[in-house]
Amino acid sequence: MNNFTFYSPTYFVFGRDTESTAGQQVKRFGGHKVLLHYGGGSVVKSGLLDRVKASLDAEGIEYVELGGVQPNPKSGLVYQGIELCRKEKIDFILPVGGGSAIDSGKAIAMGVLYDGDFWDFYTGTPVTEALPVGVVLTLAATGSEGSTDTVVTQENGMYKRCADGDVLRPKFAIMNPELTTTLPPYQTASGISDIMSHCMERLFSHTKDVEITDRLLEAVLLTMVKEGKRAIADPSNYAARANILWSGMVAHNNITGVGRDQDWGTHHMENELSTTYGCSHGAGLAILTPAWMTYVLKLGIGIERFVEFAVRIWGCQMNFEDPEVTAKEGIVALKDFLRSIGMPTSISEIGGKEEDIPMLVKNMFHGAPNHGSFLKLTEEHAAEIYRLAL
Ligand code: NZQ
Ligand code: ZN
Repeated sequence: MNNFTFYSPTYFVFGRDTESTAGQQVKRFGGHKVLLHYGGGSVVKSGLLDRVKASLDAEGIEYVELGGVQPNPKSGLVYQGIELCRKEKIDFILPVGGGSAIDSGKAIAMGVLYDGDFWDFYTGTPVTEALPVGVVLTLAATGSEGSTDTVVTQENGMYKRCADGDVLRPKFAIMNPELTTTLPPYQTASGISDIMSHCMERLFSHTKDVEITDRLLEAVLLTMVKEGKRAIADPSNYAARANILWSGMVAHNNITGVGRDQDWGTHHMENELSTTYGCSHGAGLAILTPAWMTYVLKLGIGIERFVEFAVRIWGCQMNFEDPEVTAKEGIVALKDFLRSIGMPTSISEIGGKEEDIPMLVKNMFHGAPNHGSFLKLTEEHAAEIYRLAL
């Protein structure tokens, strides 16, 4: 196991009706004037935004609203949010929504305290300071409610990049599973796919003697297979929604990833699919993960990891004479599962074509040469994986 530091101070408030405590949580963490930040209107339609406002009113906390965050959030609204917060003297950012609202909110939180362009943080400037962020979560997927990360697309060039820093971990996260029952099936499935990918990006590691994180990752993956099926079959199943919601947090606040090298090549390749074709992040991952696995296995890298994945997650029978057979069965099982919950598993299903591949590769490597660790991706590797996913 590698040396590590791990600092995860988020205060989680989990369960039914917990959004009614939003005002108390903001007060607990010293907020006086809040930016309420949300997406395209689902939280308005569901009445959630009104309930959160009532809770802020009850504590005498002022607020200003900024809606309109698009899925795969864009830089334009971040610049607007930074200006608004400075003008209104906002001291606390409160996204109400999924990963996109949260990530846009984190970007604003950094940008308000920074003299330069907030985009600097997405191109290598270390994140050391940000306004406090709290979260009311409506979608189990990204784990941004407990993570150090924010992913934003710079509209000038359409580059989707990540910034991270401990100061970006939300001060609190309100997680009511009931709020996720209104998700369309495609978003539920995309979330399941994303959570599973956050586990697989960590599981496929060459670091030795990491039994504890191996087993935690397997636990989350097995939970997602069981509860994912239940939530897709019955979207109002509270127990399934609750297990998935907490899995999303556990998968990505990095308690499952400490002390081991992690890959993230598939995530970086996915950024280009959601940017180019407008698919959800989880859909892009469902397309690319089996292709990445097939390619890496073909190169003969880490076969024992693939075999473990097949046997422990998918219950494949061990073929002692030819372990590669078992490894391949695991990849097929993953792909079948993703398809069974309604995810696309090929680039052509989201409108992509072979002639797009050079552009996808070029954008992915633009100013960002390092991708992957289990397999360090070259441009040729990435092109071949996109091709396998066609
Ligand atoms: O915009 P509204 O109207 O709110 O609708 C949203 C949106 O259309 C809808 N939705 C959310 N909650 C709902 C709901 N509809 C009905 N009922 C509800 N309860 O769902 C759509 C997708 O929302 P979005 O926030 O975009 O989804 P998600 O949470 O999957 O976030 C995706 C973004 O997060 C990034 C992705 O790349 C992508 O940009 N990621 C962030 C990470 C992080 N910060 O740690 C890590 C991830 O790997 C990921 O890259
Ligand atoms: Zn992800």
